[in-house]
Amino acid sequence: MNLIAELEKLVSDLSGDLSKVASLVMLDDLQTVYLGRKGKLAGLMGRLPEVASAERPAFGKAANAAKEQMGGMFEERRKSYQAAAADRDLARFDPSLPGRMPGRGALHPITLVMEEICHILNNLGFETISGPEVETDFNNFQALNFPLDHPARDMQDTLFINEGIVMRTHTSPMQVRAMLEKKKPPLAVIAPGKVYRRDSDLTHSPMFHQIEGLLVDEKVSLAHLRGTLTFFLRELFGPEVKVRFRPSFFPFTEPSLEVDMSCILCRGTGAREVGRGRKEPCRVCKSSGWLEILGSGMVHPAVFTAVGFSPECSGFAFGLGVERVAMLKYGIDDLRMFFENDLRFLKQFS
Ligand code: PHE
Repeated sequence: MNLIAELEKLVSDLSGDLSKVASLVMLDDLQTVYLGRKGKLAGLMGRLPEVASAERPAFGKAANAAKEQMGGMFEERRKSYQAAAADRDLARFDPSLPGRMPGRGALHPITLVMEEICHILNNLGFETISGPEVETDFNNFQALNFPLDHPARDMQDTLFINEGIVMRTHTSPMQVRAMLEKKKPPLAVIAPGKVYRRDSDLTHSPMFHQIEGLLVDEKVSLAHLRGTLTFFLRELFGPEVKVRFRPSFFPFTEPSLEVDMSCILCRGTGAREVGRGRKEPCRVCKSSGWLEILGSGMVHPAVFTAVGFSPECSGFAFGLGVERVAMLKYGIDDLRMFFENDLRFLKQFS
């Protein structure tokens, strides 16, 4: 067989061998066998001296053509492997899988309730104000008619920063600031915010939220206080809510009134239907039918004097605990839920 015929046989052998290749590694090995420096093609080329000199150019041409053809065959095979590998990668990617959505934030239930309360009172004309959580003893106590030795200071379980500086125990010091700034009536403000007391158990947290309202103008009477707070509670809890006022004590109001509303769970009956006409004592209001919800009263003249208002001024003030409102509104019976920030709890309000 002459060498040109052997070249042709080499190419046809390769196409037979290529059909048996099962991996990229085998393909690489086969390429070395055929086209490597010591491979089959190189072996044939090494036999050039056997070729008659007249036929050498033709053999050279044929050898080059065979080399190119075989290179092309390897290249083609390699490309089809790469395409198959890309297909396999694609097969692992499922475009129909739902994407991973980023977690979406939401407002805390305390914030939601604060916003709702402020919204109702803003619509009544009360302006929202703010103030610092670290307060002077003057703003937190003295201006509010708690003299230094007043026993009512005990009601507040104060956390002291140092002499004369306290963590505010209620939102009332913001109203002192508002009156000091405004210098004279009229004034209608609400002050929402965090307050601090040395107190911690199932129903008390050392930090909690209050919202306080203050209205000072000419000839403000108890009737304005009652009308405003009754309207406010019905907006917040529903038009069927009944409201009652009981005498109470705060140093900064006279008279002082505790405001109760009919229990929203048993609707003021003190008992709850538990099916088949059976009744069970209401655990929310402890069967009384009433819930304490607000502290309030007519501003004490001593407060007006302390902030430089005329003691002849008239006004009313009220304050409420935001956690308590949120617990009643959402039926939550453990205060700690608000502070643990368990996402399973918080998500229910988004
Ligand atoms: N500041 C009072 C408290 O924290 C609440 C209150 C405010 C009562 C305004 C009457 C009037 O207890």
